[in-house]
Amino acid sequence: MAKILGIESSCDETAAAVVEDGTRILSSVVASQLDTHGKYGGVVPELASREHLRAIVPVVREALERAGTDLDGLAAVAVTAGPGLVGSLLVGITYAKALCFARGLPLVAVNHIEGHIHAVISQARGGGRPVEYPALALVVSGGHTHLFEVREGPLYRLLGKTRDDAAGEAFDKVAKLLGFGYPGGPVIDALAPHGNPHAVKFTLAKMKGNTLDFSFSGIKTAVLRWVEQRGMSAEIEARREMLRSNPHPTVEEWLAVTPRATLDLAASFQRTVIEELLRHAVAAAEGIGARSLIVSGGVASNAGLRAAAEEARLPCPVHFPAPRLSTDNAAMIAAAAFVKYGRGEFADMTLAASASLTLAG
Ligand code: KG4
Ligand code: ZN
Repeated sequence: MAKILGIESSCDETAAAVVEDGTRILSSVVASQLDTHGKYGGVVPELASREHLRAIVPVVREALERAGTDLDGLAAVAVTAGPGLVGSLLVGITYAKALCFARGLPLVAVNHIEGHIHAVISQARGGGRPVEYPALALVVSGGHTHLFEVREGPLYRLLGKTRDDAAGEAFDKVAKLLGFGYPGGPVIDALAPHGNPHAVKFTLAKMKGNTLDFSFSGIKTAVLRWVEQRGMSAEIEARREMLRSNPHPTVEEWLAVTPRATLDLAASFQRTVIEELLRHAVAAAEGIGARSLIVSGGVASNAGLRAAAEEARLPCPVHFPAPRLSTDNAAMIAAAAFVKYGRGEFADMTLAASASLTLAG
């Protein structure tokens, strides 16, 4: 039995979890900084580091307590080494090193993107439908939109990625533009069923070169042009005003300040992004003869994407993580670390934060 403490602080969530043998989640604690960054409409790196510093000790303590263990009961400590915000990553890395140094525990460095993929692999190992290889992984979050071929090992090969904005970033930027605050994905997801997804036709850029690459900056510009042409500033200001006094509106409260045409716009934007993600995932899966499709990262919690993936004619079974494992968490980091732990792949005290760490070519 190997219990691994995972620590994740790459962006705006301070998270710690204890996972046994890479599959059994004994605890998973996530302290979100949404209330800190929400009023700025996006993550402010300096504030993120400060919030991580405040949260890291109590979050790790709570994860150990909920798992019913202490540091002496651990086999290793795993930490996200990148990609992410350097100042944020450093908080987790420094604390993980300190724990390892003090208790003589091995340190395991984990790539955040590999963590997202392992959220699904470990869930499947822990009793879900098994992931079969080769698998195609679509990692869609605020920072990444990547397609990987995953082979047993696991070994990764990058097949395509966004050339500009990540899909989650597009959700966030469009939501901010429309006055829905930050993060935008969950709000657009909740409002999309109230609009007509076919009302607005967006055309996405045709990819030259690698046709599996994505580009989402054009759709954001198209929404901006739509907003400018329709003179929507009064309704946008009404929503911003509501957010100032009520930072977490309900769907009904949003609907009260959002005309039908804007709901149609949001629904059409979401449909276009989902279709693009699935079109590329299907093409990539067919290209490698995938036997499983893994969809992970914050955008994987999108209800519209999950429904579309179920309805689509996919070449192989699709696996989504449980919603709480879709967005950033440390259970996925501890799960990914278990494989490295088994192989004796340990980091040492020179481990540095790597803002642009890649998983494969
Ligand atoms: O994986 P994650 O927590 O952090 C990164 O690694 O980036 O993903 C956060 C991103 C944000 O852009 C957020 O708007 C998006 O995931 N997101 C969603 C939904 N929930 C979170 N996007 C669409 N629909 C959702 N339900
Ligand atoms: Zn993430």
